[in-house]
Amino acid sequence: MPCLQVLLPAASLLQLQDVRKTCCEFLESQLHPTNCLGIRAFADMHACTELLHQANTFAEQHFSDIVQGEEFVNLGIEQVCSLIASDKLTVLSEEKVFEAVITWVNHDKDVRQEHMAHLMEHVRLPLLSRDYLVQRVEEETLVKNSSACKDYLIEAMKYHLLPGDQRTLIKSARTRQRTPVSLPKLMVVVGGQAPKAIRSVECYDFKEEQWHQVAELPSRRCRSGVVYMNGHVFAVGGFNGSLRVRTVDSYDPVKDQWISVANMQDRRSTLGAAVLNGLLYAVGGFDGSTGLATVEAYNVKANEWFHVAPMNTRRSSVGVGVVGGMLYAVGGYDGASRQCLSTVECYNPSTNEWSYISEMGTRRSGAGVGVLNGWLYAVGGHDGPLVRKSVEVYDPSTNLWKQVADMNMCRRNAGVCAVDGMLYVVGGDDGSCNLASVEYYNPATDKWTLLPSCMSTGRSYAGVTVIDKPL
Ligand SMILES: *[C@@H]1O[C@H](CO)[C@@H](O)[C@H](O)[C@H]1NC(C)=O
Ligand SMILES: *[C@@H]1O[C@H](CO)[C@@H](O)[C@H](O)[C@H]1NC(C)=O
Repeated sequence: MPCLQVLLPAASLLQLQDVRKTCCEFLESQLHPTNCLGIRAFADMHACTELLHQANTFAEQHFSDIVQGEEFVNLGIEQVCSLIASDKLTVLSEEKVFEAVITWVNHDKDVRQEHMAHLMEHVRLPLLSRDYLVQRVEEETLVKNSSACKDYLIEAMKYHLLPGDQRTLIKSARTRQRTPVSLPKLMVVVGGQAPKAIRSVECYDFKEEQWHQVAELPSRRCRSGVVYMNGHVFAVGGFNGSLRVRTVDSYDPVKDQWISVANMQDRRSTLGAAVLNGLLYAVGGFDGSTGLATVEAYNVKANEWFHVAPMNTRRSSVGVGVVGGMLYAVGGYDGASRQCLSTVECYNPSTNEWSYISEMGTRRSGAGVGVLNGWLYAVGGHDGPLVRKSVEVYDPSTNLWKQVADMNMCRRNAGVCAVDGMLYVVGGDDGSCNLASVEYYNPATDKWTLLPSCMSTGRSYAGVTVIDKPL
């Protein structure tokens, strides 16, 4: 039959298409910061449009991770340029892009330094701070050695010198903010009191609008400090049902697994924890007999804790937040004078000094503290037996606190985090019950709304943080 001769090759071609499709889908499921650039090149070579798009988006979203890998330094010049030229690049600061360029060039300096100008065309220097421009960019020999690079530096300096309303006069792609497509987020709620210390960890998926249980803590923990750093959740100190602990557990969302890392130097429960300049800070708290003014910081790479300057005040049940490169410690309880505190102090890491800022309008111990749009929120808390539903917000540029809308419920010892322009408050207790409900604040409408679905358990003193949803 003559038509078979036509059909057979066609069928095998069809089969090949199937194999190709399956292969692309498999590779898409394997995307990881260590392999996405290789997969991107593969997809490009084999004209797999969808895979190429996925790998490219993945690389943009994980730029901070991929620049540390082997694949990045082995990219060709045009591939580096197309990556850093993208508006969708996810970087906390343009510093990452500049450092990535320097790393790439230094990997094979003699050959690559001639590309400096071509690369720097895509680094948005005007978006960097003046300090960084002067102290880092201007001092970089690779920049010094290229007159075109120096022109980009001048452009950035000019941008900083112009008054805000005239900056738009600089017509340059380098003054445009990057607009990354944000990764899907999960809110992680770690341990807590229900009514005793528990091991349970649950996650809220904002897209699915559902809660999931994930791997339990290795041991019971409430009143700990919880942060997200370097792709891991850290649960720091706290109370295990009998003792205030020094221990720190770290959760890998990809493996759904907890491991222990280095202990703090001090035992602390009801501490504040936050990330500032790549260090994890553990602030104040209670060691079982006294409130603490001490503060220590954790260096992940060295797996080491070290003390920094103590606060001026002992603060247990303290809330902390980071705004504009400063760490704020809000309210709490001062064991010495047996007072709930309205005072707030601020840590400057470059001088290693704490200084008082404006006091809140009310005393708050066990307030939830969070940062939204560069403002610091203090949510609920208590003063003696009175549990608050009131909320106040601090604007660092004016050094003023002002009251905003009350929450729906009175809450103390709740967890707080910010996601996509909203401030979430999770659980806590109202003075008699542990709460399973979550509510969120919309600053545009000055309104609190209860989330339709509650946690599986009412819990207070849980740690809450937001993570990128693992693939
Ligand atoms: C500066 O650039 C020139 C030409 O590209 C090169 O020969 C020289 O080694 C560079 N100097 C430094 C300090 O990098
Ligand atoms: C609490 O921690 C201490 C010290 O690490 C330990 O001896 C004790 O068994 C722990 N208690 C519970 C309930 O896990």
